[in-house]
Amino acid sequence: MAHYLVTGGAGFIGSHLAEELAARGEQVRVVDSLVTGRRQNLAHVPDVEFIEGDLADLDVARRVVKGVDVVLHQAAIPSVPRSVLDPIASNRANVDAALNVLVAARDAGVRRVVYAGSSSAYGNTPMLPKDESMPPSPLSPYALQKLVSEQYCQLFTRLYGLETVAIRYFNVFGPRQDPSSPYSGVISLFISALCDGRPPTIYGDGEQTRDFTYVANVVDGVLRACHAPDANGEVVNVATGGRISLNRLFQTLRRLVGATVEPMYAETRAGDVRDSQADIRKARRLLGYEPIVGFEEGLKKTVDWYRESQVPLHQ
Ligand code: UD1
Repeated sequence: MAHYLVTGGAGFIGSHLAEELAARGEQVRVVDSLVTGRRQNLAHVPDVEFIEGDLADLDVARRVVKGVDVVLHQAAIPSVPRSVLDPIASNRANVDAALNVLVAARDAGVRRVVYAGSSSAYGNTPMLPKDESMPPSPLSPYALQKLVSEQYCQLFTRLYGLETVAIRYFNVFGPRQDPSSPYSGVISLFISALCDGRPPTIYGDGEQTRDFTYVANVVDGVLRACHAPDANGEVVNVATGGRISLNRLFQTLRRLVGATVEPMYAETRAGDVRDSQADIRKARRLLGYEPIVGFEEGLKKTVDWYRESQVPLHQ
C-alpha cells in the first residue's frame, strides 16, 4: 500500500482519483481549499484523510506532503475565462501553489509528482491532432500558467531528480463536474440548462471542436503515470483522440436529455481555442493507456448522474 496525496481532491477530477485510489486499497490524503471543491464530493469515500488548506501557502504544502509517496497535483482554478478576468488570482492558484508543492515534495522525499496539465497549452497551433513535441502557444493566462507549472515539473526532474509526469488533460467531463458557475465546463452547463428547459449558450458559431474526455479515462491515465518508469520527466496527452464540435455536442445532449430547446448563439469567448484534438500515441507507448469510455457512453453516464444526484441545476 502506497501513500497518495491528491491536491484538489474535493474537486471534480481529484475526487474521482481519490475514490479510485481508496477502492484499490491505497492510503489517500486529500488537501483542498474548498474554493471550488466540495466536501460532498468525497462523502461516499470515507477512507480518505481530509485537510483543508491553500497550497499557495508553503507551510500548508510542507505539512500535507509529509509521509507521502506520490502526489497527484490537481488543485487549480480550472477556467480560461476566469483567468482572463483575474490573472493574478489564477496565477496564485495555478503557478504559486504548484511551485510550493514541488518544493515541498522535493524536500520531503516524495517519489513522484503527477501534475494536471492542460491541452490549452497548445493554443491554435495549426496541426491536428496535437502531439507533445509541438511548440506550445498559450492564448490565455490559464493556458500559460498550466504550461509554466508543467515546465517547473520538468525542471525539478532535471535539476533536483524529483520524478514528475505532466498529464495534459483535454476537456474532461463526467459526474460531479460543478455546473453552478458561468465558468464551469461546457458539458455541465449544457446538461444543467437542458434539464431545466433553458436554452444553452453556444459561444461563436459552434463549429469549434474539442476532444471531450470522460473522467474515467483520465483517472486511468493518471494512475498509470504514477508508476510508468519511462514517463518520468515527460509531458503526456491523455484524451480520446477524437474531435467533436459544440453544435454536435449540443445535438447529442439534447437527444439524451429528451429536450426540445434551441441554443442561443453569442460572441466567441476571449482566449478561446478553435480546435483541440489529442494525439495519444505517447500515452499508449509510455503508459500503456487506451481510452476505456467513449464520448457518447460518457455523456450518457453523466446525464444519468445529473438526473439522479439532484444537484442544484442552476447557473
Ligand atoms: C480549456 C482547455 C481544457 C481545460 C479547461 C479548463 C482548451 C482546448 N481546453 O477548456 O484543457 O481543462 O480549459 O476549464 O483550451 N462554451 C460554450 N457555451 C458555454 C460554455 C462554453 O459554447 O456555456 C464553449 C467555449 O467557448 C469553448 C468550449 O465550449 O469553445 C469549451 O469550453 P470550456 O468547457 O470552458 O473549456 P475550454 O475553455 O475549451
